[in-house]
Amino acid sequence: MRTLEDLLTDGVSGRTVLVRADLNVPLDGGVITDDGRIRASLPTLRALTEAGARVVLTAHLGRPPGAPDPAYSLAPVAARLGELLGTPVAAATDVVGDSALAAVAGLSDGAVVLLENVRFDPRETSKDAAERGALAGELAALVGPRGAFVSDGFGVVHRVQASVVDVAWRLPAYAGRLVRREVEALHTLVDGAQRPYAVVLGGSKVSDKLAVIEALLPKVDTLLVGGGMCFTFLAALGLPVGESLLEPDMVEVCARLLTTAGDTIRLPRDVVVADEFAVHANIRTVPVQEIPDGWRGLDIGPDTVRDFAAVLAGAATVFWNGPMGVFELAPFAAGTRGVAEAIAGSDAFSVVGGGDSAAAVRLLGLPEDGFSHISTGGGASLEFLEGKALPGLAVLET
Ligand code: 3PG
Repeated sequence: MRTLEDLLTDGVSGRTVLVRADLNVPLDGGVITDDGRIRASLPTLRALTEAGARVVLTAHLGRPPGAPDPAYSLAPVAARLGELLGTPVAAATDVVGDSALAAVAGLSDGAVVLLENVRFDPRETSKDAAERGALAGELAALVGPRGAFVSDGFGVVHRVQASVVDVAWRLPAYAGRLVRREVEALHTLVDGAQRPYAVVLGGSKVSDKLAVIEALLPKVDTLLVGGGMCFTFLAALGLPVGESLLEPDMVEVCARLLTTAGDTIRLPRDVVVADEFAVHANIRTVPVQEIPDGWRGLDIGPDTVRDFAAVLAGAATVFWNGPMGVFELAPFAAGTRGVAEAIAGSDAFSVVGGGDSAAAVRLLGLPEDGFSHISTGGGASLEFLEGKALPGLAVLET
């Protein structure tokens, strides 16, 4: 895999470089609520601008329906990126149209332009390779014959999309610093994890995590399960789960996993339950055997946090994906906070994967340097751990 360092060695001063980043950040009324992905893209952007490259940045935001929609504009991201870089970032108002062409033509050495949300162009996500290729050709044309492509959007390397895969066939392509860091950290989890190896999985659905559970179970010493998905496992033990999240068609799968995994899978022994999904609900902590009818589990309980923390304290390697509860609501945040603090306080090589768990670290104000690596990839990091070939990485090997 050729990397940004190879490109820098070749020399980029005065050359135009197309960078694909993952700037898919959460917005609330146009305000960025977590700029982690923007900050994660800075090392590559700084290296290029300091070396005098003219940077054309392409990225997506959300899943617009293949047409411009102001709600999904990257304009707020351009503003935040400019603040972080300490120099304004021009924002094109289209993807490869007149605005993009003019902005690229006006670039000076060391400057950055952010193209508008690449998913405003339906060819980006088209299943038709010719359509994607046409957009990729127009993106490649923006940077001219001396141009290059740097793939740094780790969160999208599992997608076969024009700005991720097709463009890499049309320009000299290099892995950016974020992609390299992600690959190195996740590779350690797949091949080379020190034992004991503990994995904490949460989030709402077992079905989303089944493939990664099956891939990790033979490699790990302990798999701690919390979040909404734990209730399908508890149901598989025959326990009543009230109104808690439940995937009825996954109960049998969970029962099989519990039988084959033996002690490796650990479930909560207490949970925080509420009589409605609201901050002002009636709230209780109960043993998992006693979830009342009509109530729902919205967090793991304090005894479970202690159990999980004890396992994490003794681990040499930890991977955490998915919150332990509805951490966005204060009464249900203690489980996620407790687990995150236990990981941050351990000496283990620790990787936080997935958008929600990474966001939880930041929103709960936990120190990011307590973790060895906070992945920017949600689906991408899970697919990496499942052992799947990721098209956006594979194309960089060709
Ligand atoms: C993510 O949020 O995981 C990435 O930005 C990928 O987004 P997508 O799932 O819409 O492709």
